[in-house]
Amino acid sequence: MSEDPDLFSAISSQNQTLSTISPERLTSDQATFELERLATLIRHYDRLYHDQDSPAISDGEYDALVLRNRLIEQNFPNLTRPDSPSKRIGTRATSRLPKIAHSIAMLSLDNGFSDKDVGDFLDRIRRFLRLGAQEPVALTVEPKIDGLSCSLRYEKGRLTQAVTRGDGIIGEDVTPNVRVINDIPETLAGSTWPEVVEIRGEVYMTKAAFSDLNQRQSEENGKLFANPRNAAAGSLRQLDPNITARRSLRFLAHGWGEISDFPADTQYGMMQAIKSYGLPVSDLLLCCHSLDEMLQHYHKIEAHRADMDFDIDGVVYKIDRLDWQSRLGFSARAPRFALAHKFPAEKAQTTLLDIDIQVGRTGVLTPVAKLEAVTVGGVVVTSATLHNADEIKRLAVRPGDRVLIQRAGDVIPQIVENLTPEVNREDWHFPSTCPVCHSLAKREEGESAWRCTGGLICPAQRVERLRHFVSRTAFDIEGLGLTHIESFFADKLIVTPADIFRLHKRRDTLINREGWAEVSVNNLLAAIENRRVISLDRFLYALGIRHIGVVTARDFARQYHEWDAFSKMIGQLKSMRNILLPSLIETEEKYRKRVAKELTGFVNIPNIGNKIIQSLIAFFSESHNQSVVDDLLLEIEVKSVHFQQQSSPLAGEVIVFTGSLETLSREEAKRQAETLGAKVAASVSRKTSFVVCGKAAGSKLSKAEALSIPVIDEMKWQKIVKNNGHISVKTE
Ligand code: IVH
Repeated sequence: MSEDPDLFSAISSQNQTLSTISPERLTSDQATFELERLATLIRHYDRLYHDQDSPAISDGEYDALVLRNRLIEQNFPNLTRPDSPSKRIGTRATSRLPKIAHSIAMLSLDNGFSDKDVGDFLDRIRRFLRLGAQEPVALTVEPKIDGLSCSLRYEKGRLTQAVTRGDGIIGEDVTPNVRVINDIPETLAGSTWPEVVEIRGEVYMTKAAFSDLNQRQSEENGKLFANPRNAAAGSLRQLDPNITARRSLRFLAHGWGEISDFPADTQYGMMQAIKSYGLPVSDLLLCCHSLDEMLQHYHKIEAHRADMDFDIDGVVYKIDRLDWQSRLGFSARAPRFALAHKFPAEKAQTTLLDIDIQVGRTGVLTPVAKLEAVTVGGVVVTSATLHNADEIKRLAVRPGDRVLIQRAGDVIPQIVENLTPEVNREDWHFPSTCPVCHSLAKREEGESAWRCTGGLICPAQRVERLRHFVSRTAFDIEGLGLTHIESFFADKLIVTPADIFRLHKRRDTLINREGWAEVSVNNLLAAIENRRVISLDRFLYALGIRHIGVVTARDFARQYHEWDAFSKMIGQLKSMRNILLPSLIETEEKYRKRVAKELTGFVNIPNIGNKIIQSLIAFFSESHNQSVVDDLLLEIEVKSVHFQQQSSPLAGEVIVFTGSLETLSREEAKRQAETLGAKVAASVSRKTSFVVCGKAAGSKLSKAEALSIPVIDEMKWQKIVKNNGHISVKTE
């Protein structure tokens, strides 16, 4: 270290004393000196981290340096150095674990709970693929492991990367951690593996390892884990792989992500190949050829459940043929070719002690049952959801009743039955006022929920909005959990979202708060700084507008790209509010058409109707909301969003399908077209690019001919799809 004179000076004790002066109290000379010192130090630690794989300081200490640099620059903007660390991107990730984007999204699974759900799933598949009733369909069946999914990337047979599922798009880098898991080989066995293969599966902890760990934790006064799954997650997501190594984690493969070559053309074949590469695959994996066989295997696995040495919560069925898998494709959430068949929930009896009311972000009052503690499926349960007033009425429960509760997987426990309805007890009544702000509670027509009418005067709603704002799918501010939000709100440190980004001005106050210290405050402020630039979709979602969920927010961002364009559309929408009253529009379709006619862009957003439009108008017409947004925009920068779209020759084309198609269903044809960026219209017009014509076509065909619109047959369409939209059909 001392070979570098700048560095030597940067860490000398004389200059260290400068680092204790808060940024706004530095003189200009001191600030110049400090900025130079920080630039040198940060460069040094970056080098150690990236080039020599030996970080010399913790993430927290590093983040504190980056933050201090930024704060000084904010106070002395003209002193910002050309080589300032704040101008470099790609320096060290400032969250606990580095984030990595998945090359192929890691999705979830659709759930079924009954034999009928499984039958329906098979019927849907047959219909979609247009299979005859006699055509055999094979599916694999295997246990659904209650663990933490992880994607292991092997290049030329060597493990190069391991990433947790995260939000499915971006996960956490746990490469060093999985290297200490015995089930995960550093190099693949044999020599037939593809050049690049991502093997996906579950990291889990055995029941025995879980109870040993909790035993050890309790002896050392450490944190106890609620169940093996949480323990596995906590053990894998460690900065220090030595801790992971002590936690005896296991791995079972159940699929793959990116792959350069397919070693097989069936799911079963693929899993055998993965096994031959040296990764564990469940012994209970079986290929079944009928619904009966599938259900039989489901029951066999269920019977084994108790004596298996790890937790499973159901089985997973997957269509065996890979070509069928790819035809079925994916919905936004899950593959259409797979289904998780969950085991029935575990049940227990206990006493209902009381009914609490929680106030949600939009004022919904949710009753929560307070229960005498009871263990269900290995987890201690003390509360359960009661959903709404109707549910309480249906169950006819009152504090004091004995109740039957159930818990299924991750689902919040529920009350299934009142076991003592005959006992003479006073009825419980839903409160007519909000328990927090005492405003009137109201129930809107057609809704089951009671809502507090206090709006933003209700502290509970404001806290919930803030909580939503910082949540993982919104601003994702690490380290700012509910308890912090509540206490900062109570002390007026954070009252509106913009206050979060002004928190750095209250650094000293924060450090002096109970439970906080320099390092934790620095970490929090660094996490906040990290989110000052936010993508439009996250921003829209974070505002917490009713009916604007993650998917709708993304749809808007995809269409409008930038905040200014979105905001202009809102302006237009507000000025149209009188002609958009839902009472003036007869059907949802007509309503949509009307908006689409007036507003550019709206037509391209799927599923946007009356509810969402009214909600946008209501939100942005409320002056308080508008000022919250304006205030926030002073503090943050909304990054424009350009979702990658596959370039396709069919992008923007309008296709009409007519007649009966033989090799595929209408639904599949429509999705094929949409995947290639085309729109599917119901009727032929001058805007139609071409018509795909099946058997016995009628008036649409004659109309196409009359308008000289190209017509192709089903075979030709399939060729175009195979060619990713290429082949000019227009000239033929
Ligand atoms: S297949 C596209 N097979 O369950 C996702 N998943 O509830 C395909 N899981 O995120 C996943 N056991 O992490 C598959 N045998 C199994 C599984 C399994 C557990 C997890 C997986 C997924 C979650 C969905």
